[in-house]
Amino acid sequence: MDFAPRIVAWQRSHGRHDLPWQNTRDPYRIWLSEIMLQQTQVSTVIPYYERFLERFPDLAALAAAEQDEVMPYWAGLGYYARARNLHRCAQEIVRDWGGRFPPDAAGIATLPGIGRSTAAAIAAFAYGETAPIMDGNVKRVFTRHFGIAGDPSKRDVETRLWTLAEEQVASAPADAGVLAAVAAAAAATPESDAVAGYMASYTQGLMDLGATLCTRGKPDCPRCPVQATCVARIEGRQAELPTPKARKATPERSTGMLVLRHDGRVLLQQRPSPGIWGGLWSLPEFDPAQDAAAACKALGAQPGELCELAAFAHTFTHFRLHVRPWFVSLKQAPAALDAPQRWVDEAELAHVALPAPVRKLLDGLFAAGLPHMLPA
Ligand code: ADE
Repeated sequence: MDFAPRIVAWQRSHGRHDLPWQNTRDPYRIWLSEIMLQQTQVSTVIPYYERFLERFPDLAALAAAEQDEVMPYWAGLGYYARARNLHRCAQEIVRDWGGRFPPDAAGIATLPGIGRSTAAAIAAFAYGETAPIMDGNVKRVFTRHFGIAGDPSKRDVETRLWTLAEEQVASAPADAGVLAAVAAAAAATPESDAVAGYMASYTQGLMDLGATLCTRGKPDCPRCPVQATCVARIEGRQAELPTPKARKATPERSTGMLVLRHDGRVLLQQRPSPGIWGGLWSLPEFDPAQDAAAACKALGAQPGELCELAAFAHTFTHFRLHVRPWFVSLKQAPAALDAPQRWVDEAELAHVALPAPVRKLLDGLFAAGLPHMLPA
């Protein structure tokens, strides 16, 4: 049997079938899941996915919202450009596509922030389209199975992988037949809308294989449906493939952060977009070479007691950020705030879209009761 039919058969008997975005053909729900699942694990995504759909149940609801209403539903998931693009996509679909999701992968790929692989996954799941995917996990499966050496993020290697991906689905059963079979099954029992077409099973199968068996560290080759033809397994090169990226030292940056407290409230500042945490509410920052009291004064505030908190680091895709936070009880608040600043009641912090490390910092601080810092 060829590669793809073995993946399909394996997915149907051993793959995942109960993920919240699987038993639907609604492109909106599928799209949302695929965007949330970029760089993020299934178990992290599930509660976000459910909360998001409760608040924005369809494309019209998302398009009608302000971006600021959307960000709290993404806060903590990271890679916030995804949320901003999601919102832009919804508005573009309403404006340019009459409110209906584009009907094929080529149309989907024209939307902001949606690359070829994500567009193909959405089209395969929602429409049964014969469109191959090639995301990080699938690159691992393909480089191993087909014995492709070289950094898979490099253009020439990636092009080879895409060609191989196209070849595997070249003889996929025709879309129309699959869709008719799915429609017939759905008519018989509404729940069986989940009867996956060939391309949906194949696409999900590659993702499942990459996530569960063909893992980076310890691939479980004896349970793999394509082990018999896998070059890496046959030649014992599982640990070498995919070829790792040439390592560059991660750039390091440092910042000071101010937790300014006055009258039971904390000063937050919205991060500019684009940029890290763009659109989220965070703490005012300052150059850590400067002292914290001077940074308060630069904001127009009169510091009272200052307390340096435990430093921490946060790793982004392209750099590592070292944060030196300070807690400051203000004697006097700034007379006026800059446009992207606001005071937030401690009790309200739970409802604000904060980056995960800032949330952790504030939760730790306020849960600890600010022992000696609270004014009498
Ligand atoms: N990662 C990306 N898309 C996914 C999906 N549909 N199911 C599970 N993990 C995924």
